[in-house]
Amino acid sequence: MTYKKAVETRRTFAIISHPDAGKTTLTEKLLLFGGAIREAGTVKGKKNTKHAMSDWMEIEKQRGISVTSSVLEFQYDGYHVNILDTPGHEDFSEDTYRTLTAADSATMLIDAAKGVEAQTKKLFKVCKMRNIPIFTFMNKLDRQGRDPFELMEELEELLGIKSYPMGWPIGMGQSFSGVYDRLNKKLELYNPENPKDIDVIQLTGPDDPKLDEAIGDEGLVSQFREELELLDVAGDDFDLDLVKKGELTPIFFGSAISSFGVQTFLEHFLKLSPYPAPRESTKGIIDPMENEDFSGFIFKIQANMNPAHRDRIAFLRITSGKFERGMTVKHVRIGKNLKLAQPTQFLAQSRSIVDEAYAGDIIGLFDPGNLRIGDTLVEGEGFQFDEMPHFSPEFFSAISVKEALKHKSFEKGLHQLTEEGAIQLFKTYNRFSEQQIVGVVGVLQFEVLEYRLKNEYHVDIQLERLPFSFARWASGPQQAMEAFKKAQRNLVTDRDGRIVVLFENEFQMRTAMEKYPDISFYENSFIK
Ligand code: G4P
Repeated sequence: MTYKKAVETRRTFAIISHPDAGKTTLTEKLLLFGGAIREAGTVKGKKNTKHAMSDWMEIEKQRGISVTSSVLEFQYDGYHVNILDTPGHEDFSEDTYRTLTAADSATMLIDAAKGVEAQTKKLFKVCKMRNIPIFTFMNKLDRQGRDPFELMEELEELLGIKSYPMGWPIGMGQSFSGVYDRLNKKLELYNPENPKDIDVIQLTGPDDPKLDEAIGDEGLVSQFREELELLDVAGDDFDLDLVKKGELTPIFFGSAISSFGVQTFLEHFLKLSPYPAPRESTKGIIDPMENEDFSGFIFKIQANMNPAHRDRIAFLRITSGKFERGMTVKHVRIGKNLKLAQPTQFLAQSRSIVDEAYAGDIIGLFDPGNLRIGDTLVEGEGFQFDEMPHFSPEFFSAISVKEALKHKSFEKGLHQLTEEGAIQLFKTYNRFSEQQIVGVVGVLQFEVLEYRLKNEYHVDIQLERLPFSFARWASGPQQAMEAFKKAQRNLVTDRDGRIVVLFENEFQMRTAMEKYPDISFYENSFIK
């Protein structure tokens, strides 16, 4: 296979959803279609199987939930698909956000009975930052859900994205009869007795009498025709350019549990979604189609997958070129060469040594501690990709060590866990006695922190919850900043010394914004 063909056929995406929308189920069905797993229950098993991939960390085993995210890959119809898996638990971490920066597109999975939920909204915002294409799968059509028009309205109102239904459901819940594929004019019939047995009928259009025959319920069919007409007249047009810019989301309807609509979604998705995207660097845009030299960046570090060895795995997203096992690359930040000897790739539950990989792929590198999040590895002339952003934590605690004698180990542990991106560390600014503050996106991270400091660094810590809910990176003209720094309360600095303000609630935040119109407040560390 030529290099260009290998890149063109790669698809790297993440599934974003609120817990319980059916992400595990959908992922599993996709893997089944791709032949990466043979039985249903394989992915689901990760919640309780002993050797499941996501359970490497002891704490995950104890809690039976997935704390960190992993990568799953499979082949389908000539495509090489990488799914960036993100934890489904609501106590997800900043890791989830960062994983999204390695995706070229996202699939937003929505429970049709619930619509857009809190976590979907947060994850959507992160995808929106990079304007990546977003595809929507409305799930659980086998149960009574909300009116599809209402769901579309919600996408526009809550997320500010226009939508184009690729298919339209006929009935819902008890009366769910199938989905009409608007582009291919195909009718997929739902058979509740045996949902896997899907009859596909080619129609000439929605008025085809074959539709009446197949559905056999006059009321349902006429309602469907009316709705479709309304969509054609009042709905947005399909525009691939808008999809590519993340301004229009194609919607698919289905039922992941019964595999219904999943294959249709996958086939459309593979055709419409982008191949590995170009990325900004200090040398300008690096486009994998034009640049065959290897380059990539670290977006996630997972430590102690094997407690006996205390190893860390750094996840690298290949941005351009081809990776070959044993190749030597430049570690740009420290200016040294690095031999990539034992990289691993991930397939459902096993990890295997990878010999070659292309732009778009994710590889895991065993790392004795040289790499940190955001590092760039390149072949040939050195350059760096844009810095990885930090996102506003939502929970904050003052942290201190219980035994003063353990101070050194404490600092070392904190430093390493910060580099891994497990927590964000802030320091109080301009205070008489300096205090360290830990910020996390999900409260579970506090437990992970406590557990890991104790187990890996033999340090007991004290955490004292602080009442803040938002962090905003602040910047502005020098004079305005000086005045702001003197007057504003609850200022801290991040690990790179940037000024950050902590707020307890939105009201406090708005007040500060009104009081200091010259200061810009950013939700993440990407300060323009
Ligand atoms: P998550 O990873 O997004 O958290 O969701 P997961 O796939 O675990 O699914 C959450 C629940 O929703 C599961 O039920 C699952 O079976 C169900 N589900 C997923 N897709 C569909 C669908 O298309 N239709 C219907 N009706 N249900 C669906 P559970 O009772 O929590 O677990 P289980 O006992 O079924 O394993």
